[in-house]
Amino acid sequence: MQARIPVIRPWFDEAEVEAAAAAIRSGWVAQGPRVAEFEQAFAESVGATAGIAVTSCTTGLHLAMYTLGLEPDDEVIIPSLSFIATANAVRYVGATPVFADVDVVSQNITVDTVAEVTTERTKAILVVHQIGMPADLDPMREFCAAREISLVEDAACAAGSTYKGAPIGNDPSLAVFSFHPRKLLTTGEGGMITTSDVELAARLRRLREHGMSVDTFARHSTNDVVIEQYLETGFNFRMTDVQAAIGLVQLAKLEDMVKRRRHLAAEYADALSGIPGLTVPCDPPHGTTNYQSYSVILTDDYPVERNELMAALSAEGISSRRGVMASHREPAYADHPSQPLPNTDFITNHSIILPMYHQMTSDDIEKVASIIRSGLDR
Ligand SMILES: Cc1ncc(COP(=O)(O)O)c(C=O)c1O
Repeated sequence: MQARIPVIRPWFDEAEVEAAAAAIRSGWVAQGPRVAEFEQAFAESVGATAGIAVTSCTTGLHLAMYTLGLEPDDEVIIPSLSFIATANAVRYVGATPVFADVDVVSQNITVDTVAEVTTERTKAILVVHQIGMPADLDPMREFCAAREISLVEDAACAAGSTYKGAPIGNDPSLAVFSFHPRKLLTTGEGGMITTSDVELAARLRRLREHGMSVDTFARHSTNDVVIEQYLETGFNFRMTDVQAAIGLVQLAKLEDMVKRRRHLAAEYADALSGIPGLTVPCDPPHGTTNYQSYSVILTDDYPVERNELMAALSAEGISSRRGVMASHREPAYADHPSQPLPNTDFITNHSIILPMYHQMTSDDIEKVASIIRSGLDR
């Protein structure tokens, strides 16, 4: 039987195995020197002053929202078209998520869609670089600055994407990345907050470790007696040194991962060109995507329904996924008021995520494309 083509596969080799083993052999497996090294290396790679490693992007977003000091009536504008964690992060701190629609091409919120739902209670915008596609940040920054609204980037999918020539994450305020295996750079689970606000970084570091005045590694690395204090109510969102060891190896491979995906995306675009009713993703004018996911849109001109095509792919040993979900349509948000979100509904109904991973071959791409083309024979 031929191996299945998965929708995504992490790119690991012996270097990650060795790095994880070295962390275990060292005896230090909780948050320690490798986490500190990974934080610094990741921050440098995006051009931020500080990186704060956490257990996931979800917990990183939770911390980011927490530091905004939001009150129960405060509103945070987010796209509904996002993994549910984006909306949940706002709810964790008792504030109100407000769904904005997205641009149908970039699948991201824009100043125009945000303006439609901005009120005097809007305290923050959580902009998502959906599936690695950079959102247009400068107009959003101007919009926020003019209204004293905080801007936080959900960069879960965007390690290796760029905005106007700079890596996503080099913003002076806050960006939060995911290292879940669906992303390019993975540590199993894990996340990273980047910021260039030194005071905020120090607070985030404390908050992810119970609000402790001295971090555990520093306490254990000295022969002096250190009596720590708990300065505010914090959390346990610590990454382990085993994860960070893997992350350091993955970070060194990130550039190659992005290059490979962009090459594969070009092959897909060629193989899928000229198919009526099918639109492939491409870079926006203001940046470059890492193609974390390769999401295509199928309209009514394509003869087969999206779910039918997914079944046809699956029958041929190819995994696919529906495109990005719409949070406002999930039971957890059924009682949550929302304005109509036509573009969000359209994208979530008509998009399909095709396989995309470093080890994918040109033959794999051709196999996927040929099944999509065969839909035209119906
Ligand atoms: C846009 C977005 N935000 C947040 C998350 C949550 O990331 P994590 O699984 O690291 O908590 C994801 C995960 O896919 C995501 O796509």
